Amino acid sequence: MTDDRIEMLLSGFKEHFGAEPEALMRAPGRVNLIGEHTDYNDGFVLPVAIDRDIMVASRSRDDALVRIYSLDFNALTEFSLNDISHDSENTWSNYPRGVAHFLKEEGYELRGMEAVVTGNVPLAAGLSSSAAMEVVMAMTFEKISGLEIDPVKMALICQKAENQFVGVNCGIMDQFVSRMGRKDHALLLDCRELEFDLVPLNLEGVNIVVCNTSVKRGLVDSEYNKRRSECERGVKILDDFLPGIRALRDVDVDDFQKYHHHLPETTEKRCGYIVRENVRVLESVQAFEEGDLIRFGILMNESHIGLRDEYEVSCPELDAMVEIAWSTDGVIGSRMTGAGFGGCTVTLVAEDSLEDLVSKVNKEYPERTGLQPEIYICTAEDGAGSL
Ligand code: GLA
Repeated sequence: MTDDRIEMLLSGFKEHFGAEPEALMRAPGRVNLIGEHTDYNDGFVLPVAIDRDIMVASRSRDDALVRIYSLDFNALTEFSLNDISHDSENTWSNYPRGVAHFLKEEGYELRGMEAVVTGNVPLAAGLSSSAAMEVVMAMTFEKISGLEIDPVKMALICQKAENQFVGVNCGIMDQFVSRMGRKDHALLLDCRELEFDLVPLNLEGVNIVVCNTSVKRGLVDSEYNKRRSECERGVKILDDFLPGIRALRDVDVDDFQKYHHHLPETTEKRCGYIVRENVRVLESVQAFEEGDLIRFGILMNESHIGLRDEYEVSCPELDAMVEIAWSTDGVIGSRMTGAGFGGCTVTLVAEDSLEDLVSKVNKEYPERTGLQPEIYICTAEDGAGSL
């Protein structure tokens, strides 16, 4: 599969630029196992980089021109590194444009290039195709410009490109794990300190199954920003009782129990979810360390219930998908993953129940929603690198 895609990339490069590429880079999408909406609260997340990625073949130029051909969109974009503007037609090209803009702003000297790009991370499904695009482009500029960019700094530059150039106010999780993930590991990230631990998954006999609801995440941007402000509001109010707190990360469950009644109802629900989700992430790491997948499954389910009832970022289709998984024997845990309002769920299932899960989802999900699901059986893979 990967070999066929590389073949396609190379022949695409030859066809569009009449030469052999100098560099072949890739960056993966991600699925978050637990720790949802905690990244912008300075909290903890536990994502894995997956076996779906975006690949780029490239060759440097002697001038400042960047020409990128997308095999998936059948479209060429062109810009000069000396004048990087938005492209309202080829919106996919705003990711490389934004990355180039902020790499330059950080003082990196970039070379122009020719590049061909193709990916198999489903778009707008909550599996971070945008982060994969940003990271693979940053890796490509690094390589062909002969630079060495600190990986954490690269993730931050990619996040900045998404926040300020593309205009999506995301946290740091997606870019970080796309750059730094590790095969067979989840990545525990402390989103304040930007320190991380690789957590061995030890999933012998267990599959990570990602189910796409096929609901494109329509509401997500405005609702995402609303959740962010609710959390900030909560911190402002709680700061009167817990002086010095900077984010919900600084509030523990006991303190929250003591002071939660000072918060307006909605703010209270949102903040309560975040405080408990941070605890669930750390408990999940412990569960993996002890090989206690059953415990982890319970935490996944609790996380979904919190996202559904307290943080209110689920939707009927995500709930249906999760309920189908919950009612399947051999399922260890299941929850929505990513920002919500559509996109995907993540489920851990015993290998010998995988077929049952797949056929139940394929039968019951369309019956309940009228939509066709897509199912991806995923493995935890390395973060970005050369091919
Ligand atoms: C999106 C954002 C991430 C994170 C998740 C929710 O994927 O890009 O930064 O906030 O939503 O956990």
